[in-house]
Amino acid sequence: MSGHGDPIPMTSRPCGPLSGTAEVPGDKSISHRALILGAMAVGETHITGLLEGQDVLDTATAMRAFGADVQQVGPGEWRVNGVGVGGFGEPDQVIDFGNSGTGARLVMGCMASSPITVTFTGDASLRSRPMARITDPMALFGAQAFGRTGGRLPMTIVGAANPIPVRYTVPMPSAQVKSAVLLAGLNAPGQTVVIEKEATRDHTERMLAGFGADISVEVTDEGRVITLTGQPELKPQRVAVPRDPSSAAFPVCAALIVEGSDIMVPGVSQNTTRNGIYTTLVEMGADITFENEREEGGEPVADLRVKYSALKGIEVPPERAASMIDEYPVLSVVASFATGKTVMRGVKELRVKESDRIDAMARGLEACGVTIEEDQDTLIVHGQGPGGVTGGATCATHLDHRIAMSFLLLGMAAKTPVSIDDCGPVATSFPVFEPLMGALGANLTREKQ
Ligand code: S3P
Repeated sequence: MSGHGDPIPMTSRPCGPLSGTAEVPGDKSISHRALILGAMAVGETHITGLLEGQDVLDTATAMRAFGADVQQVGPGEWRVNGVGVGGFGEPDQVIDFGNSGTGARLVMGCMASSPITVTFTGDASLRSRPMARITDPMALFGAQAFGRTGGRLPMTIVGAANPIPVRYTVPMPSAQVKSAVLLAGLNAPGQTVVIEKEATRDHTERMLAGFGADISVEVTDEGRVITLTGQPELKPQRVAVPRDPSSAAFPVCAALIVEGSDIMVPGVSQNTTRNGIYTTLVEMGADITFENEREEGGEPVADLRVKYSALKGIEVPPERAASMIDEYPVLSVVASFATGKTVMRGVKELRVKESDRIDAMARGLEACGVTIEEDQDTLIVHGQGPGGVTGGATCATHLDHRIAMSFLLLGMAAKTPVSIDDCGPVATSFPVFEPLMGALGANLTREKQ
């Protein structure tokens, strides 16, 4: 849904040690894909652990608009009766993806090789984000896009009546672009080949194989070469969505910076295309133990025990960026309490997320007394040491859930409270953030305007 109503300012006050168990919700990326592939299969897909955040609910609404029967049958439990590859009907209304770049881009992919015309829109954040990275490869399939200047939403896509398979090298590290091409390739005859120079999250490839598509991945000198045979009959699945490692990073990082904390975060996906933040935190000196490592829903998971730690700044290897791209905002908060500087290079993709995340974090951290250096592709945080951040500012969140949650963490360990202008967008990915962090011992209060 576009917009979420009036802004809701929130204040995070310095708090005592965090303790207890944080059961974070299902993975956002996997939840979107389970609904979409369920809608493209023939028969009933059963999903458990689905993230019921607004972004994913918007994808469920979109799949209904294309003709799939999508029902919630219990908390986190959903059934999807799909229409089959090539079976999408034309929605009779504009498809509104609210804040969700993943939903919009994946669904553009899966309709672009069908003979239907669809108009997409979103909230102010999504309407400002670049879509040419999707519509360029969709044009190779034969689809046409009519958007605003700069390839922005609202945008109408006329799907290809006679799609042709493509061979496409993704120009930037983006799982959304890779996935959109693969989803479009589903309804094109013959083989669609996607090449990515750097590995990005691989949930689409894993799930396509699980739904019975003929898909293979080869690592060559060019990069990861993914080959998909079009027009399969996808078989409905039972999908158990693991807990989201990106959401888990918030209670984990909170425990690391609030003195005396000791928490458990169970069942967190440790897929190597997603776990760069945990590697980085351990390199900084974080006391995290990975207990009970096992497989759940086709993903490696572990229970994390996290204790407050004195951290040191490090240089994050740029080649790790894709595996932790959503975690740089919260890492920059953790880095503010470390000793020494943390250097994050190769992160220009952060500038085109729900907000320009380099700018949003730099401005808010500076307002809270942290020294920052930045350029187009780099963020450097000069750590103030344990307990050393002043706080005391109201930070602008620019309709960005991860910026909002990051500054709330800053307030938990700073010398004085930190406020944000709007906690509303948190519901897009982590609807239970406020009660979950409150139960651990955080002091979050909604402010009247
Ligand atoms: C996602 C891919 C990433 C990530 C986003 C989810 C996905 O975006 O930032 O939160 O589910 O494919 P990019 O593809 O823009 O890197």
